[in-house]
Amino acid sequence: MSLTTEIVKALHSASGQAVSGEVLAEQLGVSRMAISKAVSKLNANGYQIDSRPRVGYALTALPQTINAEAVSALVDSKFWKHVAVFEQVGSTNDEARKALGEGVATPAVFVAREQTQGRGRLGRRWTSSLGGLYVSILVTDRVDIAQASSLSLVAGLCVAEVLGEQGIEAHVKWPNDVIVEGHKIAGILIEMTSDVDGVNSLVIGIGLNVNRPNSAESPNGANEQALDSHAKPAYISDRIGQIASESGLCASLLDSFQNKYSQWLAQGFAPFVEQFSDVQAQRGEEVTVSNPLGDVVANGIVRGVDESGKLLLETAPTEIVSISSGEVTLRRNV
Ligand code: BTN
Repeated sequence: MSLTTEIVKALHSASGQAVSGEVLAEQLGVSRMAISKAVSKLNANGYQIDSRPRVGYALTALPQTINAEAVSALVDSKFWKHVAVFEQVGSTNDEARKALGEGVATPAVFVAREQTQGRGRLGRRWTSSLGGLYVSILVTDRVDIAQASSLSLVAGLCVAEVLGEQGIEAHVKWPNDVIVEGHKIAGILIEMTSDVDGVNSLVIGIGLNVNRPNSAESPNGANEQALDSHAKPAYISDRIGQIASESGLCASLLDSFQNKYSQWLAQGFAPFVEQFSDVQAQRGEEVTVSNPLGDVVANGIVRGVDESGKLLLETAPTEIVSISSGEVTLRRNV
């Protein structure tokens, strides 16, 4: 790990408190002059590290854009075995699959500032211009197919948690759209490989609208085509009234995933039922569930999810059915 990465790690774990140059120098086995030079370099690279005379250094802001050093410095390197950050790629999900073929150590994460072939669910395109966060997580723990799909609900919870830390109240529309006041802010695309013994790899692709792109960068409006016609995308920057740090958000998302994934792997989806119900969009609403061809599978009222992450739909006063896949649309929008 480079000295600059180690300094970011040390200052980040002090949660905004100042750490003296002397302590840093001793901890990292270098001179105070080397610390001071590295801090100047970090400040030139978009970090905001205050030098407080007689007190020390405090990390007050992270670089706005995705930065490999920042992401590697902020995440738990004992859990994340591989972190890759790209300026531009086709699709981070494809990068994850390619790396799987090359035997990458997992959990691994692939992040891009821009994607040229970003894809969404149901073969839709996911416009991925600068300003968004495009993340694919690759895990290779063995799970059974029935459990695997509930991981996308857990990923939705992670995104909702990160938004909550920003003061943004988000809801998760089953199975995996994250919504803020009716507008989609993030989408999740899970792809898996399996053999006779069950799932052997999962790629969890997350696209999050962070900073609203200017029109020159995104002539079509980021991700609007991934939405139903009733909503326009939401952006974190619009909600918090300032530009957000993509690096900071990415690190928070990976921290949240680390915690929830470990629990999900050990205990399945059951411990998340209540959390999911708390943030589930469309609860109590009349919806239509359709299959990928657009055929109606069921009509009913959303009543929550069960312990395997299936949607619970009240189709008649005494009848609750559980649904494992489909697109859910509010009936007034049908
Ligand atoms: C959807 O709502 O349709 C899911 C969108 C998922 C987009 C993400 S961005 C990172 C990863 N790479 C892709 O090509 N797609 C996913």
